[in-house]
Amino acid sequence: MSLVRPGFSVLSDEFDADPYGHFARLREQAPVHYDPAIGSYFLSRHRDVRQVLTDHRAFTTKTLQARAEPVMRGPVLAQMTGAEHTAKRKIIVRAMTGEALREQVRAVRVHAAELLAPLLARGRMDLVNDFGKPFAVHMTLNLLGLDSKDRQRVAAWHSGVAEFITSLALTPERRRHCMDCARQLEAYLLPVVERRRRAPGTDLISQLCTAEFEGTALSDRDIIALIINVLAAATEPADKTLALLFKHLIDHPGQLAQVRRDPALLPAAIAETLRYTPPVQLVPRQAEKDTVIAGTTVPAGATVFCMIGAANRDPGVFADPDTFDIHRPDLGTARSFTAAAQHLAFGTGLHQCVGAAFARAEIETVAAMLLPRLDRVRHSPGFRYRETGLYTRGPVSLPLDFTPLRAGGTRAG
Ligand code: HEM
Repeated sequence: MSLVRPGFSVLSDEFDADPYGHFARLREQAPVHYDPAIGSYFLSRHRDVRQVLTDHRAFTTKTLQARAEPVMRGPVLAQMTGAEHTAKRKIIVRAMTGEALREQVRAVRVHAAELLAPLLARGRMDLVNDFGKPFAVHMTLNLLGLDSKDRQRVAAWHSGVAEFITSLALTPERRRHCMDCARQLEAYLLPVVERRRRAPGTDLISQLCTAEFEGTALSDRDIIALIINVLAAATEPADKTLALLFKHLIDHPGQLAQVRRDPALLPAAIAETLRYTPPVQLVPRQAEKDTVIAGTTVPAGATVFCMIGAANRDPGVFADPDTFDIHRPDLGTARSFTAAAQHLAFGTGLHQCVGAAFARAEIETVAAMLLPRLDRVRHSPGFRYRETGLYTRGPVSLPLDFTPLRAGGTRAG
């Protein structure tokens, strides 16, 4: 194994092109890598990442305040602590479990079928841009109770907000653009909140409007921040996971055939996708006191980035970690979407993803609809795979060819 080059930076083009090619070296030689270009520490070992995400006294989410609050327009779940965090998290969980979740799954089926019909008839689709992105935005709007006819402008504002949170280096011009998106999103949401306060329904915004914390209703500012929080947190990882699942299955035709024959294997395929290529690659924390990690002192006040992609391929935890294997015994599919997950794609500790069960239901439902319909599915001729993103990462596009489906579900030709 070659050495971590002096002056290596996660902002380099070589890292951006293939972070997975660097993770083994980082884990071995620089498990606590200080990156002067960003002025932050990057952790790559599973045990260190788990320690930082579960030691809530030594490592807090304060760093998210600077990163998220300006565009979220108020305090977000990830930066809250104690009773406030528990209470507000519960409101969101309630809107995504039990009957509410079953209702969402029904909506997933209806909307996916509508969006897929013309694509299936064509025998060709870009799973990222024709389907995954519009689908994930629609489903998040549906969960919140926002009108899907506003999908395009909400998606445009959302991408400005997401860019602000996930950029490691933002030019003043991009910063202005992101802030402008956040202001427009807030202006769009305010009248929605007013209407839901007057006439609540069953959606998540209505539940936020009718909820109380310590005997007091949530303020408009709190509600809007939580709406943008869910919008930003839910959309991107879901569409990226769906595309990555299909990419890995197509690249492993034996496993694709097994999942098509036995859809009960789908949860394992999704869990392995999340381990192998987690869509959220970085989770930041702030060190509250000088802390020694793997022999390096991380000073109080420093920002620490947990490298989820590197931790998920730690050979100390996963055998043959660079191999995609839906049958791997060390993953534990049943717990992969719970607080006991061995992979760290949903984070861990108090701030572990609140939407894990919803994401699983959404991706599983769509994948189960797509797999039997994508007969002879393959990458389109001439396609060259490319991923982007340091913070969240996924395919730029995924053009697929397959046997076209006639109306009524029979195969053409
Ligand atoms: C495959 C899909 C998803 C992945 C990989 C993912 C990943 C993550 C990760 C890594 C965190 C932890 C952040 C931290 O510790 O600072 C997180 C938190 C969060 N996620 Fe997800 N997420 C996904 C889907 C969703 C969905 C569908 C929703 C909502 C419907 C959602 C809502 C949230 C929220 C609100 C938080 C903050 C929780 C808190 O701070 O208590 N996520 N997610």
